[in-house]
Amino acid sequence: MIRKAIFPVAGLGTRFLPATKAQPKEMLAVVDKPLIQYAAEEAVAAGATELIFITGRNKRAIEDHFDTVFELESELNAKGKTELLEIIRSVVPSHVNCIFIRQHKALGLGHAVLCARSVVGDEPFAVLLADDLMEGPEPILSQMAKIHEFQQCSVLAVQAVAPEDTRSYGMVAGKEIEPGLLQMSGIVEKPAPEKAPSNLGVAGRYILSPAIFELLANQKPGVGGEIQLTDGIAALMKRERVLAYQYEGQRFDCGSKLGFLKANVELGMRHPEVGADFTTYLKTLCQGF
Ligand code: UTP
Repeated sequence: MIRKAIFPVAGLGTRFLPATKAQPKEMLAVVDKPLIQYAAEEAVAAGATELIFITGRNKRAIEDHFDTVFELESELNAKGKTELLEIIRSVVPSHVNCIFIRQHKALGLGHAVLCARSVVGDEPFAVLLADDLMEGPEPILSQMAKIHEFQQCSVLAVQAVAPEDTRSYGMVAGKEIEPGLLQMSGIVEKPAPEKAPSNLGVAGRYILSPAIFELLANQKPGVGGEIQLTDGIAALMKRERVLAYQYEGQRFDCGSKLGFLKANVELGMRHPEVGADFTTYLKTLCQGF
């Protein structure tokens, strides 16, 4: 059972400037919910009860989002808006605990994960990158938790990546042990297409063994001068089995403008309240192009 989930949210979000000048990228909303809430819900659905946020400057809005807002609650209560009251109360279910840790300098994703070491301790844990909004017939982290439970080792979510996009991903090498599941033998951070060991790139969901903390703590900066999680995983693979899992579902890269727009359109079209009207609007709009 994965009880602890880490959300590294201390990055600078430069690809979304100026929107992210004074607010965190993870608070950008897809339709009516911030990205970080989609990720938190996915972690809770997979059984996580401790949500550990690695925050940095300008990230206070994330703490506020997962906190109780008494004024708002009493206002909604007084007006009898019970549905809205329920929506804001359910942001954090009562059995779930939120922990916030500050990463004082954005030294890389690997360093952000390392910041949670003392809170995670000696148990396997999940890492979710909230700017990857992921959806499947079953939540992606739940699919991975089942594999972890059965295989008792680290599991990374991977997906097929076009050759022109390998420079944006950690690309994996490995041997298929069953359909959609690889035992990893290598991982390269953001390679050129001709250097990519396969067409499979890591998406923003990981279940990791606690052994990775020691490796991250002793790791030198890698690509971009940052402590890379990918390098920690490469070192972990030499000690333990690490699996790459081709998840069932789709991913919206909401760290990029195009991915973010696609997520808003697709989730907007499926939204119970506005989906039908929005779809009609899009059809009319597209006729004009
Ligand atoms: P990205 O590479 O997407 O960087 O980080 P970024 O700063 O968020 O966004 P851009 O590229 O400048 O637009 C991947 C994930 O790792 C976290 C980020 O918050 C994001 O979820 N991260 C990265 C940290 O928490 N700390 C770091 O030092 C670096």
